[in-house]
Amino acid sequence: MKHTAKKTILVTGGMGFIGSNFVEALYKAKPESHIVVLDILNYAGRFENIPPNIHSSPRFRFVRGDIRDQGLVEQLMQNVDYVVHFAAESHVTRSLQNSHVFYDVNLMGTHTMIRALLQAGRSIEKFIHISTCEVYGDAYTGPIQETLAQRPATPYAGSKAAAETLVYAFYKSFGIPVVIVRPFNGYGPREHIEKVIPRFITNIIQNKPIEIHGTGKQTRDWTYIDDFSHGLMAILDTPIKKVHGEIMNFGSGKGISINDIASIIVDHSGTNRNMITHIADRPGQVYSFEADTAVAQKLIGWNPATKFQDGLKQTIDWYRNNPGWWMPLLGTEKVEVAIDHTKVQF
Ligand SMILES: NC(=O)c1ccc[n+]([C@@H]2O[C@H](COP(=O)([O-])OP(=O)(O)OC[C@H]3O[C@@H](n4cnc5c(N)ncnc54)[C@H](O)[C@@H]3O)[C@@H](O)[C@H]2O)c1
Repeated sequence: MKHTAKKTILVTGGMGFIGSNFVEALYKAKPESHIVVLDILNYAGRFENIPPNIHSSPRFRFVRGDIRDQGLVEQLMQNVDYVVHFAAESHVTRSLQNSHVFYDVNLMGTHTMIRALLQAGRSIEKFIHISTCEVYGDAYTGPIQETLAQRPATPYAGSKAAAETLVYAFYKSFGIPVVIVRPFNGYGPREHIEKVIPRFITNIIQNKPIEIHGTGKQTRDWTYIDDFSHGLMAILDTPIKKVHGEIMNFGSGKGISINDIASIIVDHSGTNRNMITHIADRPGQVYSFEADTAVAQKLIGWNPATKFQDGLKQTIDWYRNNPGWWMPLLGTEKVEVAIDHTKVQF
């Protein structure tokens, strides 16, 4: 461990899917570090996403609170060295139903974080802002470079693009030590069953059909969650002068279709492929996401290590072995969206 030894890292959204996996990995990999999690515990953030041994550790502190709470965020920023900012409303379909909270949390919450960073001054060494590949939007095939013009296709993507622009603008004006990461799709344990891979897996476990939005030919670029954590730790370990103000994709560079994912899940579970069905496509559907990963390779020497088939099998096994985690969420995986005054469930 290099630069983060004995440092304190504030992780916003650390009780959610990516955040909790990152906290667990960080806790193990950097035994001298201190971790503070700020999380409001919305429907996707859960206290039990962090194991009891970490909760009870003197190296760990959980603060239940809101990134939009200026006083709280300013106070927390006084005593930390690094910030990794995951906290967000994260589900595309929910943003079609109620966009307000997405702009409030993702944009204005990030504004609060950045204002507090300015207040904290030089004591913060690095602020890693977690954006998303969704900022690119559609109308593109082949590997996406960071320089591609943004065309966000959903309210979620718009809110994340706005937040990222805000972070970049404050970096340009004030030179604050930001690094912007655009993860493509993550998968692994503890992802809410509203998201595609856990939804498919838990349906098959319950002997229910998989429902694919549209043709299923749309592709996404998938990274196993542990690989994201390693990439983020590589950013923490890289001197700020090398990554200051940089924007980097986090992905595998390979597109895998939703149809292929459904087939692997069904086959690995020993179920019949007639369990795969198709429903109406979701508004704002993006047909292709595939990362150009050269910037992350060059700046932090990071490449995801897990093969998709292997990571997916580990994920299937985790959901099979942890029904107590996801069963309480049943019934919340679908969201009702009004299209042309007709209500459709996605
Ligand atoms: N999951 C992916 O594949 C993916 C891909 C690209 C980018 N991202 C981004 O990564 C980040 C984490 O995504 P995730 O999948 O873990 O999402 P998630 O929904 O599982 O977790 C989000 C966490 O943020 C917390 N939160 C929400 N509003 C808050 C607020 N006002 N104050 C404090 N905490 C709040 C929630 O309680 C939750 O614990 C998000 O910024 C998301 O946009 C995710």
